[in-house]
Amino acid sequence: MLDLLITHASLPDGRSDMSVGVTEGRIVAVEAGLKAPSAEVVNAQGLLLAPHFCDPHFHMDATLSYGLPRVNRSGTLLEGIALWGELKPLLTEEALVERALCYCDWAVARGLLAIRTHVDTSDPSLLPVRAMLEVKRKVASYLDLQLVAFPQDGVLRSAGGLNNLRRALDLGVDVVGGIPHFERTMADGALSVSLLCEEAERRALPVDMHCDETDDPMSRHVETLCSETLRRGLQGRVTGSHLTSMHSMDNAYASKLIALMAESRMGVVANPLINITLQGRHDHYPKRRGLTRVPELIAAGLRVAFGHDCVMDPWYALGSGDMLEVAHMGLHATHMTSQEGMRQCFEAVTTQAASLMHLSNYGIEAGCNASFVLLHARDPVEAIRLRAARLKVWRCGRLLARSPAPEACLALPGRPSTTGFMPAGAQRIP
Ligand code: FE2
Repeated sequence: MLDLLITHASLPDGRSDMSVGVTEGRIVAVEAGLKAPSAEVVNAQGLLLAPHFCDPHFHMDATLSYGLPRVNRSGTLLEGIALWGELKPLLTEEALVERALCYCDWAVARGLLAIRTHVDTSDPSLLPVRAMLEVKRKVASYLDLQLVAFPQDGVLRSAGGLNNLRRALDLGVDVVGGIPHFERTMADGALSVSLLCEEAERRALPVDMHCDETDDPMSRHVETLCSETLRRGLQGRVTGSHLTSMHSMDNAYASKLIALMAESRMGVVANPLINITLQGRHDHYPKRRGLTRVPELIAAGLRVAFGHDCVMDPWYALGSGDMLEVAHMGLHATHMTSQEGMRQCFEAVTTQAASLMHLSNYGIEAGCNASFVLLHARDPVEAIRLRAARLKVWRCGRLLARSPAPEACLALPGRPSTTGFMPAGAQRIP
C-alpha cells in the first residue's frame, strides 16, 4: 500500500506518462503505468514533476530589510556593504528570525526547499549567527537550511574577524566562507583564502567563498582558491561564488584558469539577478553584464549552479524566492538560449545546486526523498518561460504548499509549442 501515487507525470529528463510511488517519505518506484493501491492518487495530467528547487547562495540575515535604514542609491556592491554596516547596530535577533521565517514561507510556496545562506560573522556579538541557527532549528521539519560563516567585513580587514568566524563554526555553522576581494590588498586576499581553507581542512568542513565579486579582471583569488584546494586535497568540497571578475578577464588567462578550476573540481555559483545589477556600475558604454563564464565552465565539466543571493535587502530591491526567475535571468544574461542551454539553466537551480550543497537522496528516482514540485508546465523550458505555478509542493511525501492553476488556459490546438497560460483571473475579450 502506497501513501501517495502520482500518475501521468512528465519528468525533467524527458520521460513522460510516468508514475511515482511514495511510501514513508521515500520514492519507492518510478515507472510507466504503475498500478498499486495508494492512500492518495494525484493525476499530473502530463505536467512536470521536478525535484524541489535549491538555492545554493543566499543571505537570509539581510533578507526583507529593504529600506532599513535607507536604500542603496548607487546600486553598487560597496554601498550595499556600507548600508548593511549601518543597519547592523539596529538589528535584533527577534526581527532577524521573523523576517527569515517569512522568507522561508515564500520559498516553500515556490517549491524552494533547500537554501544555503551566508551569515555575517563580523560582529563579535554573532547576533546574525545565533538568529540563523534558531531559524534553521525552526524550519528543519520543512526546509533544509545550510549556514556559511561569512566574514562580510573581511576576515583580516575587520578586527577579530578570524576569531569571530571560528566562534561561529564552534556554534554549529556548516560551511567556511570568505570574501578575499574585500580584504585591503591582493596579498591579504590571498592570505585570507589560505587561512580559511586551512580552517576548513582542520574541521573537515566544505568551503563556499564569495570570490572576485568585482569587474576588476586582475582580481584573481579564484586562482588561489584552486591552488589551496589542490594543495590540501579539498577537491569537490570547495565552491567559488560569484566569480564575476572572470567576465572581464583576458581570454588567454581565463582558458588557463578554467582548466585549473576543473582540476580542483570546484563548484561554481553565479547569481544572475544580482551580478547583472551590481556589476558594470563603473562602466559607461558598453556596460558589462558581470556574470561569470557559465557556458564555458559547464563545457569544461564544472558543476555550475545559480543562486538568488538577495531578496529585498541592501543590495537588491526585488525578488520573491522564485528560482525560476533566477534561471530565467541566468538564461538571458549568458546567452544560453539553445534547448540544451535552457535545460542546463533549469538544472542550475535543481540538480546542480543540490550537488554543490551535497544534498543526499535528491531526485526523482527510487530511493530518493519524495520532495518534489508539480509545476504548471510540461517541461523545464516551459517552466522557465512561464515561471510556472507550483501546483503542489511535497517534502518527504508531505504536502507543504499548493497554488491554483491559472484559471484560463489558452491552448492553441495543433500547436503545442505555442501553448501558453493566461494569468490567473485574466479574461480574453474576443
Ligand atoms: Fe552573496
